[in-house]
Amino acid sequence: MSGKIPKYFINELLSRTNIVELINKRLILKKCGKNYQTKCPFHHEKTPSFTVSHEKQFFYCFGCNAHGNAIDFLINYENLSFVESIEELSIIHGMKIPFENTKYNYLYIKKQKLYLLMKQLCNLYQENIKFTDIANKYLSHRGINKKMVDVFLIGFSSLNWNDFYKKLNVSKELEKELLIYNIISISKKGCKYDPFQGRIIFPIQDQHGRIIAFGGRSINHILPKYLNSQETDIFCKRKLIYGLYQVKKKFSKPKYLLVVEGYIDVITLTQYNINYVVSSLGTSTTVEHIQILFQNTDTVIYCYDGDNAGKDAAWRTLKKALPYISDEKTLKFILLPKNEDPDITIRKEGKEKFQTRIDNAIAMSKFFFKYILRNINLSSIDDKFYLSVRALPLINTISSDTIRIYLRQVLARMIGILDDNQFEKFLYEQENKRKQKPQFHIKRTPMRILIALLMQNPNLAVIAPPVKKLNQIKIKGLNIFLEILQICLDNPDINTGQLLEFYRNTKISNILKILSRWDHMIVQEEIQNMFLDLLMNIYDKILEERQEYLIAQERIKGLTINEKKEIWSINKKLSKNNKKI
Ligand code: UTP
Ligand code: MN
Repeated sequence: MSGKIPKYFINELLSRTNIVELINKRLILKKCGKNYQTKCPFHHEKTPSFTVSHEKQFFYCFGCNAHGNAIDFLINYENLSFVESIEELSIIHGMKIPFENTKYNYLYIKKQKLYLLMKQLCNLYQENIKFTDIANKYLSHRGINKKMVDVFLIGFSSLNWNDFYKKLNVSKELEKELLIYNIISISKKGCKYDPFQGRIIFPIQDQHGRIIAFGGRSINHILPKYLNSQETDIFCKRKLIYGLYQVKKKFSKPKYLLVVEGYIDVITLTQYNINYVVSSLGTSTTVEHIQILFQNTDTVIYCYDGDNAGKDAAWRTLKKALPYISDEKTLKFILLPKNEDPDITIRKEGKEKFQTRIDNAIAMSKFFFKYILRNINLSSIDDKFYLSVRALPLINTISSDTIRIYLRQVLARMIGILDDNQFEKFLYEQENKRKQKPQFHIKRTPMRILIALLMQNPNLAVIAPPVKKLNQIKIKGLNIFLEILQICLDNPDINTGQLLEFYRNTKISNILKILSRWDHMIVQEEIQNMFLDLLMNIYDKILEERQEYLIAQERIKGLTINEKKEIWSINKKLSKNNKKI
């Protein structure tokens, strides 16, 4: 994959990226000596072992062994592919990716064109609404004010499509794509038209604020009530959180996110100064939604209609979210009065009361048992058995030790099968089994220490005495070391993160990553000396090997004058080096 984007570009991107800033936008980092620390986002832990090094532009976790550079962080934290994470970084730095591969380049350009077109469409829809009485009447009838129209870029798709379309000035080539994506439709009579025409438009923005799709609400009882854009190369419904861009613009680390069902719900609550409101646009909750929400906040509160359908939806969400819950990441629920949505409720009862609903949201564990105990008679053995069969597998999907143990204890008490002591013992054994993960060890060899020192301190390259690359020499790891040395010399100021990037998808990338975070147990002040000593030893080994080779050659066919001179100088150097020791 990486071959499709030139290495020099990735290197440049990484040199502009500050990994501490990138991670600090997503997690709360605390300065700790030269580095920064926080609790690891990739495994559950009580004390922070996730470390970010500014100097090395590298992160690592002592607890779970996660490690890498800024690209690796995005890949793992945001579940992006390699190319997507490069895209993410290039957006941050306003750089265009020079894809080498024509297929990728084509897709990239196509996506850029779509973004641009969506932006143009959005601008036109926004223009339209200013002059459309029926649209404005509808919005004021719904109680949506001008400020919200601006914040959420609300527009209107005019019935006068032809004029509108002319303004867009779409090329024939792009028009083909627009027809494929159904951004333009063709009527039975063969006329082109906007499928959203006559609707209030809610532009859908991605996390960077780019317009990627539209939702359109009918204002004249034409069905469906809402129409959403089809998925395209830039719009994926299962990953979209409406309103997140607006929230993040105001609060980079929102203290919670309140998830409601509709566009209007997000807009009305925001208008009432209930912050942190987002929506998954009427689609049922996906794992991706939950991941994105938890990437942006520690507390996710889902708001549903309090009728049975709403409770069932809450339950489906809960089941999907269980594996993502931890001591930090909590899930809560609000169940509104039956047949109400947040838009109706807040208009009825006002901000204060609605805020109380948020403050008193039901904890996940409470909702879990409340829902699962529906129609269960705890005095019936059959029911108890049914309960444990249903609840245990779900509880076991929780990866956080404390929460899983807590829920199991609650369940055990409800069922009353095990007494507390027995249950504790059983849990203790289970937990110990989980914790006995194999530890990762690699042998310490001088060459590995040398490579580790260089990977971790690329500036050591300048103090390394020059060495000739000799084909006959077979010292394990030497070629790799010399190659890394050369990269460091060719790229002054390179950091560990960038250095690792040169080796992505190569056979040695894993071992290099491990060496980059390996504790070589050498104190900081001694690193330079140690590096030079190890290097001198290895250079001696090279000389010895060369010496042996030349001696063997002499026996076979004699040496040239130059070779004789060489062996003489090697002897001299080796005896000098030995004297030093
Ligand atoms: P609702 O039917 O609850 O509508 O759909 P609403 O949000 O309360 O809208 P108003 O108040 O009647 O205007 C919730 C969400 O489901 C999606 C939309 O995203 C909507 O906001 N939906 C609904 C559709 O995609 N298509 C539909 O036909 C209806
Ligand atoms: Mn509504």
